[in-house]
Amino acid sequence: MDAERLLAHYAAVRRLTERICEPLATEDYVLQAMPDASPAKWHLAHVSWFFETFVLRPSLPGYRPLDERYAVLFNSYYNGVGPQFARPARGHLSRPTVEEVYAYRAHVDKAMLSLLDGTAERVDAVAGVVELGLNHEQQHQELLVTDIKYNLSVNPLRLPYRPVSGEEPTTGAPSLERLAFSGGTIEIGVDGEAFCFDNERPRHRVLLHPYQLGSRLVSNGEYGEFIADGGYDRPDLWLSDGWRTVQERGWRAPLYWERADGSWTTYTLSGMAAVSPDAPVAHVSYYEADAYARWRGARLPTEQEWEHAAASETAAGTLLVDTPREPAPATTGRLAQMTGDVWEWTASAYLPYPGFRPLEGALGEYNGKFMVNQMVLRGGSCATPRSHIRRTYRNFFPPDARWQFAGLRLAYGG
Ligand SMILES: [Fe+2]
Repeated sequence: MDAERLLAHYAAVRRLTERICEPLATEDYVLQAMPDASPAKWHLAHVSWFFETFVLRPSLPGYRPLDERYAVLFNSYYNGVGPQFARPARGHLSRPTVEEVYAYRAHVDKAMLSLLDGTAERVDAVAGVVELGLNHEQQHQELLVTDIKYNLSVNPLRLPYRPVSGEEPTTGAPSLERLAFSGGTIEIGVDGEAFCFDNERPRHRVLLHPYQLGSRLVSNGEYGEFIADGGYDRPDLWLSDGWRTVQERGWRAPLYWERADGSWTTYTLSGMAAVSPDAPVAHVSYYEADAYARWRGARLPTEQEWEHAAASETAAGTLLVDTPREPAPATTGRLAQMTGDVWEWTASAYLPYPGFRPLEGALGEYNGKFMVNQMVLRGGSCATPRSHIRRTYRNFFPPDARWQFAGLRLAYGG
């Protein structure tokens, strides 16, 4: 990416992060309603810390951090960089204040702009890690949306993140078809120079047996049939860990669903709303996705099947452009929603590709050290920035995670 485009991209990404926070009251910025849902204020500071740590300190001569103590406060998990403040306690920090965190962002932006406005050699030398920092910030934009939604949801007033601004029309989902793929020896992953995370490399061959995929995501209406059929009460449908988790946590429906007067309502970014039967089911764990698929006589696709099929995708679903939105019904009958709306749980454990090499130095901690006890999700969601997602992208979460916009697509055969 040349210097001018990098500078424009930097400005656009930093602006969107702050735009996501615009509807928040000052008090909202500090909430952490569970260990996984970091305060908005922490995200704002941490993404700036990333540029400070990996770009400005090593590469901008004379750079002075605004406050040396932020090095510990806003380090997430980089042991190679130094100690970190405890993740579950991020919501205990009333200081630095929201205003001070915005000043920290401005301090980092000023230095970044002077660096990116420098000689071509200097920009070339940092372009790769700046691009990584921007992709990192886009990942946190998605977390901002999902963490804000969770943190606001625990308030019994169920207040909206933003007022309803004209609901998306409900068009009715096209019927769910099975689309056949012949498989064979195919290639997945990335080669070449385009930006990707280290976990998407190297490109390699895999053998796929013929399989079929659902033409769209599983809808709320279809998931409601699973609930009505006693899906949460039938141990034969569940993995052992899933059944135990359902019992321990009392799960009876996706996260945010509430039963009122015989019908389902759900907490959304616009407050409580009726569950839209045609919109894709969201906020389910891997365990629920797996049990649902088994109940339908189907299964979850592997990540290799998903990536192979995504080569023929026609139209994207809802992605984050400027204003965060909820997932929407499919609008096409042919392999719809492979991109956007909800992340799709796959049957694949998050593992290194054959020949995987993590990045050099502390940045090697970005992905590789998380390759245990997590499952791969594909395709992006309504909270994923549009310029961030690609066919080879591998997201990953533990199988009991529900606060992301995660749902599923059925697979058959194989
Ligand atoms: Fe991060």
